[in-house]
Amino acid sequence: MTKILLLNGPNLQLLGRREPEIYGRVTLDEIVAAVTKEAAVYGAEVEAFQSNWEGALVDRIGGAMTDGTDGIIINPAALTHASVAVRDALAAVHVPAVEVHLSHVDAREPFRQVRLTTPVCIGVIAGFGAYSYILALQALMDHLKMGKKQQRGNAARKGVKI
Ligand code: DQA
Repeated sequence: MTKILLLNGPNLQLLGRREPEIYGRVTLDEIVAAVTKEAAVYGAEVEAFQSNWEGALVDRIGGAMTDGTDGIIINPAALTHASVAVRDALAAVHVPAVEVHLSHVDAREPFRQVRLTTPVCIGVIAGFGAYSYILALQALMDHLKMGKKQQRGNAARKGVKI
């Protein structure tokens, strides 16, 4: 079964009540439930983890190197703009990651346009509220499927059946 790690950074435990005019009224639990439901359509399972601590997120990303995680969806929140450690962890593990933001970060304050984590992700989806997470999952599943197809293609060319 495809294993997706859904990571959320600082303050996202407050979703639903936190600046709802920017981030909407959907709670993190509701987002996790919606992503889990959508993932099931693809035959994938979701493990969700939220932390306000940079090191805890770095630890969890590092764990993805050996725990069978196939793909990561991450909203690093404020750490997007500040954390070399989260960036380096994502670069280290070689597990495809999609970055997600509820708000349209590029249309906001200039400091949000500095994004350290984005370049080490396969792509970024931002600005669609809670639906950004669903779009991120769809994009990630598509990416993983393409990868498998490519592997099968390569194997077939070498006469290997997978
Ligand atoms: C956010 C955007 C970040 O700039 C901010 O620090 C957040 C949430 C978003 O989902 O829109 O905490 O990642």
